[in-house]
Parts: sequence; structure tokens; C-alpha cells
Amino acid sequence: MSEDAKNPPAGCRGRGVCGHAETDVHACLSGLPTGRQVGKVVANTATTPPPYFKGEAGRFVLYRGDCLELMPLLPEASFDLIFADPPYFLSNGGITCQAGKMVSVNKGKWDRSMGFAGNYAFTTDWISRCRRLLKPNGTMFVSGTSHIIHIVGAVMDELGLKILNDITWVKPNPPPNLSCRYFTHAAETILWAGRDKKCRHKFNYPLMKRINGGKQMKSVWTDIETPRRDEKVFGKHPTQKPLSLLERIIAAASDEDDLILDPFSGSATTGIAAARMNRRSVGLEMETEFLELSKKRFEREYLEAGYSPLLDYERQANADTSKQKNAAGKVSSRLFSNT
Ligand SMILES: C[S@@+](CC[C@H](N)C(=O)[O-])C[C@H]1O[C@@H](n2cnc3c(N)ncnc32)[C@H](O)[C@@H]1O
Repeated sequence: MSEDAKNPPAGCRGRGVCGHAETDVHACLSGLPTGRQVGKVVANTATTPPPYFKGEAGRFVLYRGDCLELMPLLPEASFDLIFADPPYFLSNGGITCQAGKMVSVNKGKWDRSMGFAGNYAFTTDWISRCRRLLKPNGTMFVSGTSHIIHIVGAVMDELGLKILNDITWVKPNPPPNLSCRYFTHAAETILWAGRDKKCRHKFNYPLMKRINGGKQMKSVWTDIETPRRDEKVFGKHPTQKPLSLLERIIAAASDEDDLILDPFSGSATTGIAAARMNRRSVGLEMETEFLELSKKRFEREYLEAGYSPLLDYERQANADTSKQKNAAGKVSSRLFSNT
């Protein structure tokens, strides 16, 4: 352990902020005392509100509220990775096919379009807040369809983020297009971006290559299924992402103990995948219904299901021989100097 890590500065309680090993994410972000130190440190409750839920000794934290208001309360440059699944602004009276029936697209009030200018302003507001929270080498992944993803890309560019990849997640079983006037919508895009142009982003290249049977992993993902039935036993979120998608993203762009934020947490798929992968997480969500669903999911899916097999795989990859590590190091420095 470095000298710095042995003597953390006052107020720092966790690795998420400045590299000191601790567990309680809320304490780390708010400068509050951790369980062991209660009574010795004066609490600073003016900054971060009390969490809605804390699990796994404070490594899994959910806050209730509008992410636009909550994010400015979190300390700058404290997150290694952000995953955001924002409103796609899809729920505008259109139709789709669900279980063989024609239904109107209505995910919730939060998913109604505010028109181009409103959607653009909202996207600028939340991405700029996310950017402030990223560490210098931190990255963010944002999912979306054509309704929003082009605005997301434009805003990222405008704010000076560095777009690293646009990933295509091919949906295995898309609903048919009822109007028969378009190609069947069968994919979502996930933009991956670094905090700024100088960002030396984390990419677990050897692990991705191993998962892909020894070949470089492409930016088109065809092996991620929609959420399994056992991911929805407590009810489902209308736009729930599969755990396997989040595990892939987390494994690709973070290390164990890293701190991950999801500003539109929904049913906490990101937090659960993070817990399985032994990362720490913070989720922000405004709907109590989804926070309750998140708690139930966390209690069962994480505590009962335990760690992901991907974590064992990751640990094996990290325990590679130094020869393999050196080879991987050369590849990543080539990638950085190429860009
Ligand atoms: C697309 S869903 C995310 C689903 C999530 N990825 C999952 O797997 O369950 C977006 C979520 O963001 C929430 N939301 C929308 N606007 C918000 C805001 N301004 N602040 C916090 N949460 C918001 C919605 O209630 C919804 O649950």
C-alpha cells in the first residue's frame, strides 16, 4: 500500500474519490463517517442526501430524486465509469407488438418527448453533470435508439468528450414492424466516451478477447439476450436492460472495487451487475416503485445468485503470466497512440 493510501486526507473514505480502500460509498461521497468511525467524524449532511437504500456494507447505494438535482451534490471526479440508459423519448402515441398483440408504446411519463429543443437541453444538462463526476480517465456508456442517440453523440462532441466506440447491440428477438413500412428495428446503439480528448481510458482488452474465443471483440454484439425470466421475478421495469449487457460493459471498462454511477437507475440492473462483478455503485432514480423493485432484486439476485462467472474469468485473466501482460500492455499503448 502506498504512503498516500495509508494516510487518506480528511473527508475521504473510499477508493472512488481518491484511491483509499474503504467500503461505504455514501460515506465516501458525502464525507460522512463510515460505520467504524461513527461518532469520531462530524457528519456533513449538507452535501449528499441520505441514501434510499444501502446494501452490501454500503458498496451498493441508491438515491431517490431527479438526477439533475442529485448529481451536483456528488463530488467532482469521483467515478470510474458511468452507464446511462436515459429516457429514449419513445412514448408518444406510437404502436408496437407485444406478445403477439398491438399495444401503444407507453413506458411512462418520463419517456415523453419534449420536442427537439427540450430533448437537446435535457441531454446537455445530464451529460455535462455526468462529465463533471468522471475521473480524468473515466468513461461513460450511453444506450439509445435513433430517437435520442444522435443527440447524445452531438452533445458528447459539443462538451468535449472523446467518443471511443459506437456499439451495436443486436436484439435477438425484436418485435415485428406492424406498419410494414420500415425495416424491423432490431438494434440499440451504445456510445462509449471518455471524459475528454486526453482521456487514457481503461479497456480490459485481454479479457474481452478471451470472452470472444481468442479474437478481438467487435463493436457489434450479437450474443447478448434480452433479460432472462429470472431477472423479472419481482415485476419488471418497462425498459429493463439484461444483466449480461451490463456485466459486459463493466468487465470491459472497469476494475474490481471501481465506483460506477447510473443516473437513470430504473430497476438497478447496473448496480446488481456491479455487485456481482465486485465493483461499488451508486444509482439515481426518481420513481419509488422502481427503487422498491431494485431493493428486491438486489436482495435476491445479488445475495442469492452470488458472483458472476465473468468475475472468475476476469480474475483468471488478471492472473495471467507477466509475458501475456506485457503483450497486452503493448497493444493498449498502440491503441492510445493511434487515436
Ligand atoms: C430507460 S429507464 C432505465 C432502465 C434501467 N436501465 C433498468 O435496467 O432497469 C430510465 C429510468 O430513469 C428514470 N428517470 C427518468 N428521468 C429521470 C431523472 N431526471 N432523474 C432520475 N431518474 C429519472 C425513469 O423513472 C426510469 O426508471
